[in-house]
Amino acid sequence: MGRSSVGITLLGCGTVGGGVVNVLLKQRDLLKQRTGIDFVLKHVVVKSKEEYPPNAAELPMSLDANAAIDDDASDIIIELIGGAGVAFTFVERALKLGKPVVTANKALLAARGADLFKLAREKNTCIAFEASAGGGIPIIDVLQRGLVANRVDALLGIVNGTCNFILSQMSQKGWSYDQALKEAQAQGFAEANPTMDVSGRDSAQKLAILASLAFNVRIDEADIHLEGIDKLNAADIKFADELGYVVKLLAIAERAGIGDRVSGIEDAAKPDTRHPIPDAVSLRVHPTLVHKSDLLAQVSGSFNAISFFGHALGHALFYGRGAGRMPTASAVVSDVIGVALGTTLEQFRRLNVFFDQTPRATVQPFDGLRSRYYLRLTAKDQPGVLAQVTKVLGDQNISIASFVQHESAQGAGPVPLVLTTHDAREGAIQAALSQIDALDPITAPSVCLRIIDQPKEFAA
Ligand code: HSE
Repeated sequence: MGRSSVGITLLGCGTVGGGVVNVLLKQRDLLKQRTGIDFVLKHVVVKSKEEYPPNAAELPMSLDANAAIDDDASDIIIELIGGAGVAFTFVERALKLGKPVVTANKALLAARGADLFKLAREKNTCIAFEASAGGGIPIIDVLQRGLVANRVDALLGIVNGTCNFILSQMSQKGWSYDQALKEAQAQGFAEANPTMDVSGRDSAQKLAILASLAFNVRIDEADIHLEGIDKLNAADIKFADELGYVVKLLAIAERAGIGDRVSGIEDAAKPDTRHPIPDAVSLRVHPTLVHKSDLLAQVSGSFNAISFFGHALGHALFYGRGAGRMPTASAVVSDVIGVALGTTLEQFRRLNVFFDQTPRATVQPFDGLRSRYYLRLTAKDQPGVLAQVTKVLGDQNISIASFVQHESAQGAGPVPLVLTTHDAREGAIQAALSQIDALDPITAPSVCLRIIDQPKEFAA
């Protein structure tokens, strides 16, 4: 951009917008000192006066997004409205004028990213989206630049602060799901509609963005198998704890058929037979049992953590605040600076990693997944139940790794039977569960959660 003063228009001034205003105003001198650029807020646009922030009197407030975007003094447009509706219209308008856009909007990018990137390219401008995944963790920059030398084998992690906060409070403080959700909302992590968080959709949208960059393919939200935390039962958090695990909502993208999940650092003496673009990618968001010794198990509250597995680096973990006002503002303002310095446009033009340029991903069918499993059955406490259950599992070639049943008084009613399995195929597990649930002694639908093992690296 090469200017000493850059005009900013901010669309949306909610939680994150308020943080962006705070950084741009309070750190104006610091940003100027570091970049040589004076960042000047030209317009702060909201839908109605009811949405004015408490310090509105000090800000260039506006209700007219089109006029603010069109203003010649608006050099960079920050979109923090969210969703793929009106936000699309405004982003499209800005790009058509050749103005760069900074957005935190994963729903928009997951739904319309390819179209918007194409338009930006045609208009010789760019879109920066660091805050769309991982909150304040600069994971997008890391994937585009810092890790570009790696052929990626897997990327998985905790990418929704609200869900992680809820699960942490439920397991550490014994809070109910509703109590924990209310507190997450009060602390400003949750989406306007928390269903996006707890259903896992927010995580799936972020995974679509991250995995597209990591694997050089285009991934749509609909490609991702989705299970949220909204149907999770507190009993499973307790049983997982007893077995040495914590339950985390993980977003997982990995090269299909990877076997031991992660191949680790490439052996320099052996030829690299893997194509940079995988034949198929396994994509899923679901509650997952993570062993307590795994670093991901230590990630609590609204924090996010993304594990990356590359052929050169091996395993790296990126940890930080994944949601909230100031952490997300940190990512947005870093994008503003990248755009103003011209580095974002240069990367956007020259790196072939954006979804408008990459091929559609080939997605591994979910029933082809190989994983270990946690199963909780509810059964009458009577002779012969286990024999029936183990026969079904054995017939599907599923091997039991552990079994827990707590003692109960005879005739006390249905009891939980908890099993973990060795590596099995998802399709076989689902077939076995439908047979098990049809058995007479089984009194309620069984619960099935996946277990993820620690990475197996072969670094010396
Ligand atoms: N609602 C999201 C979360 C924050 O809880 O992680 C923004 O992506």
